Amino acid sequence: MTMRQNIHLKCPGGWINDPNGFIYYKGKYHLFYQYFPYGTQWGRMHWGHAVSHDLASWDHEKIALYPSKYNDADGCFSGSAVEHEGKLYLYYTGIRYENQDPENTNVSLDQKLIASQMMMVSEDGIHFDNVKDKRTIIAPIEDPQIGSRRDTRDPKVWRGKDAWYMILGSTQELKAGRFLFYKSTDLERWEFVNMVQGDKNLGIMWECPDFYEVNSEQALVFSPMDIISVNGQGENHTICMPVTFDEEQCAMTLSKNYQFFDYGMDLYAPQSTTDAQGRRVEVAWLRMPESPDGEWIGMFCIPRVTEVIGGHFYFRVHPNVDKLFVRKIASAEEAAPDGYKVSADLPEDGWIDLGGYRIFRKGKTICTDRSRVYRNHREWQCSFATPELKDGFHIDAYVDENMIEVYVNQGEYVITNGVYDLTKTAKAGPGVDMEIYTLDVH
Ligand code: FRU
Repeated sequence: MTMRQNIHLKCPGGWINDPNGFIYYKGKYHLFYQYFPYGTQWGRMHWGHAVSHDLASWDHEKIALYPSKYNDADGCFSGSAVEHEGKLYLYYTGIRYENQDPENTNVSLDQKLIASQMMMVSEDGIHFDNVKDKRTIIAPIEDPQIGSRRDTRDPKVWRGKDAWYMILGSTQELKAGRFLFYKSTDLERWEFVNMVQGDKNLGIMWECPDFYEVNSEQALVFSPMDIISVNGQGENHTICMPVTFDEEQCAMTLSKNYQFFDYGMDLYAPQSTTDAQGRRVEVAWLRMPESPDGEWIGMFCIPRVTEVIGGHFYFRVHPNVDKLFVRKIASAEEAAPDGYKVSADLPEDGWIDLGGYRIFRKGKTICTDRSRVYRNHREWQCSFATPELKDGFHIDAYVDENMIEVYVNQGEYVITNGVYDLTKTAKAGPGVDMEIYTLDVH
């Protein structure tokens, strides 16, 4: 199957959620993702697969992983990839439901999962034998002192100095988040080494941990469930923080302070890899309430380059994507089908309106309001703001028909929002000079 998509990778039909197994392997970027191919709602998980040579255009490949073993009979949950001796190793969580919903066997009746950690090896990153090349590497946890048998998932594997390491998200009885650390010398036999327990104000279960080093700092990005409460309702959001990790003991010390991965609060479960030039690059899932056309739901943000400077996470649009927005246009109506970019500096009270989506400055912050392009979903948050800014009030907004990414001050903060029914207009308030760029149409 080749179906090409530019700038944003969207679900090829059905439902997608988290990015998985993101890796630069044999000269190409592979991005797998949580995928339910049969409808626009979450269900028994597969791994969809897309490949890119530059992170700017993507070809959809065949489904890579699907339920085929006793331990993953009800789903192949999130995980990661590494390369070793030319082979691609995928690590993921195999799920069995304790009780299937008899009326819809794609979902569990009561959220009682049985989680195993599993792996799959592929010779070339294109062929995946779900019968021969999969196996369980960590059986469901029996000792609650270590972690939860139900909610332990999302293995992220990396090469350390003298061994391979794995971090897993887990929970202490859905009261506090927890990470588990395993170690291996051969990528197949994994030994439990240590765990770190969160305190209660950091959510009840930690999903999708991603540990990496960038600018000589150790960094952690993860997605705690119930990290904030809105109208008495717990919400799951992704946070970033500098950490220290000692390989010998597998001891991780978390920071007291964190920032959100994105201040639009729609992105979730990001995953990173290193690009061909060694930059740290990440993608994340845009949570959407509604399918744009009844056929597909879910998309990924533009791959962003992460840097950590003085403990702060900065993000910028990957240069391979940014450099495509070269053709200056006078109005948004002239934009190519893959969207446009708007750049402006906002004075006090300055604003721009992109097809009904408002971006404005309020004091020392940049704010967005999507209420006019989210009319059917007022129960979702519609107003957003950055924390107080230090580096100015410059914005670069990347506009797609269902997603707007507002990069503030070259990535001091980002606000990404899902949108519906944008009009093709871009207007600026008094005193705002706005420049619009689109892609060269060949
Ligand atoms: C995060 C998550 C992961 C899990 C996957 C299941 O969105 O809940 O923890 O592996 O989605 O689809």
